[in-house]
Amino acid sequence: MTIGFIGGSGIYEALPLEDTREEEISTPFGDPSAPVTIGELAGEEVAFLPRHGPDHQHTPTNAPYKANIHALKQVGVERVLSSNAVGSLREDLPPQTLLVPDQIFDRTKHRDSTFFGDGIVVHMPFADPYCPHMVEHLSESCETATDADSEEGGTYVCIEGPQYSTRAESEFYRDQGWDVIGMTTIPEAKLAREAEMCYATVTGVTDYDVWKEDSEVTLQEVLDNAAENEESIKEVVEHAVRNMPDERECDCGHALEGTINTPTEAIPE
Ligand code: ADE
Repeated sequence: MTIGFIGGSGIYEALPLEDTREEEISTPFGDPSAPVTIGELAGEEVAFLPRHGPDHQHTPTNAPYKANIHALKQVGVERVLSSNAVGSLREDLPPQTLLVPDQIFDRTKHRDSTFFGDGIVVHMPFADPYCPHMVEHLSESCETATDADSEEGGTYVCIEGPQYSTRAESEFYRDQGWDVIGMTTIPEAKLAREAEMCYATVTGVTDYDVWKEDSEVTLQEVLDNAAENEESIKEVVEHAVRNMPDERECDCGHALEGTINTPTEAIPE
């Protein structure tokens, strides 16, 4: 059973994998953001993709999310771990903290976030957008594998970008009690659920967004802190892979059951 890892900003190389090979995978949704790097870690097969491409060519809106999830599915991935750079909406979550969210508020506007349509109507439950077992597993890995401060649970508000938020937006998100803000967990989490894969993410805080008086997010600050977060995120993911439970005991693997609202005989060939 292969474990997938989608690296966010600051993570462009796989973990220390052995016997690596690169596979060029094509999908009905175009090419993934890079060839899939497949290798071994502690007896587990790991398939790695850098979300934004090897040279950070894909914007949060245009990243090939569907191709990435499809490519990982094709190479046998059942559980996907990912990472995202995020801003903090809380004073007590400073840059270089890690947070494993358990909720999402979707504020994206221009993203294709389903594999279905075209004659097949699927209504997928998404109340718990991340696999609860992987959230717990990644959180435990944060506590065990790195010295970085970390937190389990919280809400990731996903904005369209590529611009950062206005002060009014940032204050609104903060007033809701949400925790971190980023641009990339949607549609990845939705597509992984439709593909019946477990999915969870470790976010690395890079900035305080713009709710603090006179604060401004700068790309340089985000890049600098993403680079600082790289090591701890890799430690967390490596630990999570090494200690991955053998069996999936969640519902993700049969998420499609009972969700297709088109009679089988009406589904186009
Ligand atoms: N990624 C990193 N920092 C961010 C922020 N403040 N808003 C949205 N995405 C981000």
